[in-house]
Amino acid sequence: MSRKLSGRGKKVTAAVFFFFIFSGLSLFIFLISNNKIRFGYNNDYQPDQPIPFSHAIHVGQYQMDCRYCHTAVEEGRHAGVPSLDTCMNCHLTVKPDSPYIQKLREAYENNQPIVWEKVHLLPDFVKFNHSLHIKALSSRFAESSQLPPSKEQIRKTCTTCHGTVENMEIMYQHESLSMGWCVQCHRKEEHQAPINCSTCHY
Ligand code: HEC
Ligand code: HEC
Ligand code: HEC
Ligand code: HEC
Ligand code: HEC
Repeated sequence: MSRKLSGRGKKVTAAVFFFFIFSGLSLFIFLISNNKIRFGYNNDYQPDQPIPFSHAIHVGQYQMDCRYCHTAVEEGRHAGVPSLDTCMNCHLTVKPDSPYIQKLREAYENNQPIVWEKVHLLPDFVKFNHSLHIKALSSRFAESSQLPPSKEQIRKTCTTCHGTVENMEIMYQHESLSMGWCVQCHRKEEHQAPINCSTCHY
């Protein structure tokens, strides 16, 4: 049994239809402008962090070594993000009155981690290892044949892929991390790193 819509029924249907189109569109625009949906690659991706940790202060102004906090970068696949113990080496005494530092201290005393938002993330089907890259690339910035590499040498090596971290108030992704980006560097005359598919894919 079918029933034709009256004139008024049609108007209501049209209104409901446009309401859904309009709210769908608004939601979509909200999502893309807040990084909830992303197109293509994540260059410039800069998530909000629970505490506005500034590399510009710690590395730019106070000249800290990347390895002080990213301790695994020379040995492992991942550089790692520091635990609160590392922060509290200084912040038990440095600027304890800051509301941010009080937040750190509270988490520390309650044995709770600060959950940093990940900035860089490759898909699971890609192999990437920091230690190999640091070894291969840092020699380009060696001031002498000294071992282990100096703080400056390490910083410049990281800059190759992460941009000028020492100027970043809030961390963001500097490069696309696309396959093309990886392969272009591997192909360079001075690197001649492997580019067969199984180098980077399982
Ligand atoms: C005082 C400790 C400290 C030092 C020193 C430090 N970092 Fe970090 N780094 C952090 C913390 C904490 C985070 C996580 C919060 C954030 O993303 O800002 C982080 C995040 C990062 C990230 C992004 C991680 C992700 O989620 O993808 C990169 C890349 C990075 N640091 C590179 C560097 C480089 C390069 C240096 C040296 C030039 C350096 N850091 C020195 C503490 C430090
Ligand atoms: C050859 C390019 C390259 C260089 C050089 C490099 N990184 Fe990375 N870094 C990456 C990529 C790609 C990722 C994402 C890795 C993933 O998702 O598995 C990353 C991720 C990170 C992260 C997030 C946590 C992790 O390990 O996944 C930190 C922190 C980081 N890098 C710090 C550093 C520091 C410090 C240096 C210098 C000592 C450095 N990186 C040098 C490409 C590089
Ligand atoms: C080697 C010592 C040292 C370490 C380790 C350290 N910081 Fe700092 N931090 C400083 C100094 C110095 C300042 C600048 C203080 C000032 O402005 O007087 C600072 C400033 C800050 C500020 C800004 C505070 C404000 O209100 O202005 C935050 C937030 C912060 N650090 C977070 C962290 C976090 C999170 C870690 C661990 C990942 C960390 N720091 C590790 C020395 C350190
Ligand atoms: C700035 C240049 C540069 C970029 C960017 C770069 N690589 Fe590399 N990569 C190298 C060099 C140089 C080596 C050679 C290391 C060695 O074996 O001495 C290498 C080696 C590797 C290896 C080990 C190869 C082996 O010998 O088994 C893998 C895996 C790898 N890269 C993956 C990646 C991926 C994935 C990306 C992108 C997310 C990437 N690389 C981006 C320079 C780069
Ligand atoms: C130097 C590292 C590297 C090499 C070599 C490499 N890839 Fe990739 N590949 C990546 C990275 C990083 C990604 C993820 C980023 C992207 O999608 O661009 C990727 C993504 C892909 C994807 C998924 C694309 C997508 O849009 O989801 C395919 C398919 C792929 N690679 C195939 C290959 C094949 C086939 C080869 C050999 C001809 C190859 N790759 C060699 C690094 C590499």
